Amino acid sequence: MSGTAPTRNLGLDVVRATEAAALAASRWMGRGKPDEADCDAADAMVAALNTLEMQGRIVIGEEGKLGRHSPLDSGVHVGTGNGPAIDVVVDPIDGRRRLALGYSDAISVVGLAPRDSMWAPAPAVYLEKIVVGREAAAALVPECLDAPAAWTLALVARVKHKPVRDLVVFVLDRPRHHHLVEELRTAGARVMLRSDGDIAGALMAAYPGSGVDLLMGVGGVAEGVVAACAIRALHGKLLARVAPQSEQERSAVRAAGLDMQRILSSDEMVQGDQIFFAATGITDGLLLSGVRLRGHEAETNSLVLRAETGTRRVMHATHRVEWAHDEE
Ligand code: FBP
Repeated sequence: MSGTAPTRNLGLDVVRATEAAALAASRWMGRGKPDEADCDAADAMVAALNTLEMQGRIVIGEEGKLGRHSPLDSGVHVGTGNGPAIDVVVDPIDGRRRLALGYSDAISVVGLAPRDSMWAPAPAVYLEKIVVGREAAAALVPECLDAPAAWTLALVARVKHKPVRDLVVFVLDRPRHHHLVEELRTAGARVMLRSDGDIAGALMAAYPGSGVDLLMGVGGVAEGVVAACAIRALHGKLLARVAPQSEQERSAVRAAGLDMQRILSSDEMVQGDQIFFAATGITDGLLLSGVRLRGHEAETNSLVLRAETGTRRVMHATHRVEWAHDEE
């Protein structure tokens, strides 16, 4: 360690925003109301973000995917307006439907990087993605996005020194992935199919020792960019390409002049090394325990990552909470 004082770790500030969103969201666990949960979580997140000393700007909001506005839409300014100029990408709840059904691995996340360092391919909504962790990062080459899945599996298996049958691949359970899942199974890999939550999936694929080796398939753009922040800090790799899922999205992407053939890596999606990521568990998950409610106290578990130093912090917090609707 050098003798100079450590620079500010914005991740330690921004984790308060993921904690606030997770606490608000947790009240909706299993109540079948994903939209209400999302509104409360977004309100709590923006209120916490606005206390942070930064000139933040939301780079990709959820308006494209949700088809409605939120306090965290693209272009919204967050923070006190003092301090560093920062690109901010958020997901107050990744896995809204999982939370509404009481399933595992709903998380709240924020990624930060200096102004103009994040890729924002508006109006694209969907990306094709492959994610691996540090051990396999060098083996993942752009050709993997077009090659048969078995080829990528063989590359990853070789550098991880294990047979393909021992690999676990996270895939969102969608009709668009039927062929991919068939290919993966035919090649002998094990497939972790999940109804939602490909930020959690990307974290699992990149996190050392999680038991998940890859993420493959098509998911949201904002989810891809926020995951890229975490993957940069974990020294893993994400490859992505714009992948419109409707004629309307395809026309919008074409009209905006986006190159649908271009393959980007996580290094290009979020540039430089001043990158911070925070995630808080809402429901129990593979990497993070969910919120525990106990009357006027609640416990949260969070992960804070910093690319420059590679620091991974797992933080447990107990909060005193005054619920707004105690009289209900
Ligand atoms: P939300 O929880 O924000 O609704 O996102 C869930 C999610 O599964 C993401 O993790 C994923 O990137 C995206 O939806 C996939 O989109 P779609 O549900 O349209 O296939």
